[in-house]
Amino acid sequence: MPETPLVLGIETSCDETGIALVRGRTLLADAVASSVDEQARFGGVVPEVASRAHLEAFDATLDRAITEAGVSLVDIDAVAVTSGPGLVGALLVGVSAAEGLAIALDRPIYGVNHLAAHVAVDRLVHGDIPEPAIALLVSGGHSSLLRVDDVTLDVTPLGSTLDDAAGEAFDKVARLLGLPFPGGPHIDRAAADGDPDSIAFPRGLTSPRDDAEHRLDFSFSGLKTAVVRWLKARAEAGEPVPVPDVAAAFQEAVVDVLVSKALRACADEGIQTLVVGGGVAANSRLRAVLDARAEHLDVRIPPPRLCTDNGAMVAALGSALVERGRAPSAPGIGADSSMPVDRVIATGVHGGLPPGSAGIV
Ligand code: KG4
Ligand code: ZN
Repeated sequence: MPETPLVLGIETSCDETGIALVRGRTLLADAVASSVDEQARFGGVVPEVASRAHLEAFDATLDRAITEAGVSLVDIDAVAVTSGPGLVGALLVGVSAAEGLAIALDRPIYGVNHLAAHVAVDRLVHGDIPEPAIALLVSGGHSSLLRVDDVTLDVTPLGSTLDDAAGEAFDKVARLLGLPFPGGPHIDRAAADGDPDSIAFPRGLTSPRDDAEHRLDFSFSGLKTAVVRWLKARAEAGEPVPVPDVAAAFQEAVVDVLVSKALRACADEGIQTLVVGGGVAANSRLRAVLDARAEHLDVRIPPPRLCTDNGAMVAALGSALVERGRAPSAPGIGADSSMPVDRVIATGVHGGLPPGSAGIV
């Protein structure tokens, strides 16, 4: 294996078909095909639509990545693919294709954890992540705080959402305000003209009595309900909805909780590095508040394109795994829709998983 291996990364856990090539820490190509426009008709991600879209987009996206990188398939040293967590049918498209390629090319394959990949992508931008680090991952499917001692081996969950993910809350509130799916960017834009202090929306799980059990967990469903109630009262009073103000006040509540808990995790663990990832990391207010409140920390946020789901994150983790000499997955890695965050690499069915392991198909 060369010192700076050429790694193919494949991501199909949700609605983005992402295929990328990374050599060492250099991103050579990052091709993404999204089914978000098809999903918008339904106001959310329909798993069956996502799986079919991955199948349809896969070959062309792979061709695009290979051409953009100026390499051939035979140049690839290792294949990395998201094995979980995610939508099982969608994951299976990527995993099956990756296993086919790895067998045909006779190269090692790494089935990797999507969340660890969201963290690892930052090494392509800011260089290797100082470890230990705290990671705040916020997207449509996950909201987690992690302690990362080694992104290839040792990731510990510190907290997660008890109900809606942060991006899901953005999407649901956007829908209530009549804004298109996915709602995050629309709320972000609308909020720019609103007053974040105009409405006092609740900050979930931040009261002193939540401290013992849910110090680093999140909850956004109460916030969503508060928005519903506020809009209902407004409608009953026959008054128009000030969309920018509601968007700004809602966004402020989400951002306040995310930043407070991320800072708390860093302080609790005595860690100076905070890596932020996931689609919500594109939020302009989150970036501004982190700038202001976390200036004592080394805050690493990849550019928005690398925060949302993509193949580069998977290739970035794959290249770190190869560089650190981690053993690849055994054949038959499968898709693990509820892959636990502390399992960075899928073992593979011949790799000694206990019989009947939950979530392995
Ligand atoms: O990471 P991602 O592309 O996919 C997964 O869900 O895994 O994240 C998509 C989520 C959506 O919920 C979307 O509304 C949210 O990220 N999002 C944003 C922004 N851009 C995308 N949320 C808030 N502000 C944004 N600017
Ligand atoms: Zn994601």
